[in-house]
Amino acid sequence: MDTLSHIHRFVPGADPAATPLLLLHGTGGDENDLLPLGRALSPGAALVSPRGRVLEHGMPRFFRRIAEGIFDEDDVRRRAGELAGFVAGARAAYGLGAPIAVGYSNGANIAAAVLLTHPGVLAGAVLIRPMQPLGSTEPVRLDGTPILMLSGARDPIVTADDVGGLAERFRAAGAAVDHRTLPTGHPLTQADVDIARAWIAEAAKAIDPVR
Ligand code: MLT
Repeated sequence: MDTLSHIHRFVPGADPAATPLLLLHGTGGDENDLLPLGRALSPGAALVSPRGRVLEHGMPRFFRRIAEGIFDEDDVRRRAGELAGFVAGARAAYGLGAPIAVGYSNGANIAAAVLLTHPGVLAGAVLIRPMQPLGSTEPVRLDGTPILMLSGARDPIVTADDVGGLAERFRAAGAAVDHRTLPTGHPLTQADVDIARAWIAEAAKAIDPVR
């Protein structure tokens, strides 16, 4: 669909009752990367997978950074707004309910920024190795929004304090946060897939399909 803001892949869902997944890749990924993960996490769900619109030395990302872990916050806000608009456009174009975001690393961070600045766009989120994308934001309500956060105890990029602060911000907004720390580093592992699959199956039961 050329009229939407982001280059993306759309895979129609075989199961109309399954909550759609919004797949958000990490730095250097693209719209194809997480399709196999999406199929593994929720067989039958529609998949929407945009490519980040920022290039860092040729590597797609969802927002600009100044250095590792130091983000251009004006750009984070702008790109979160763009992605929220993309979700609205994709829902209208493909006839979808609100999606659960599944984001890895930079994709988890833009999903966190959407939750903190555009509540109501996402029905829930699986954030794999997230960190705080914005230092402060206006208070928002995320009442009951299910959020799974999967951190790595040996992640050299994300500190426990940073991600713990993010979990607290979501909790303070009323979200239903499940934050787990796995004995691993930054890369995605089979344990992430297994936990996220079981979590999505439970979380989806509580999500209104026509929201
Ligand atoms: C990454 O490499 O993607 C970072 O760890 C996360 C980010 O920059 O958003």
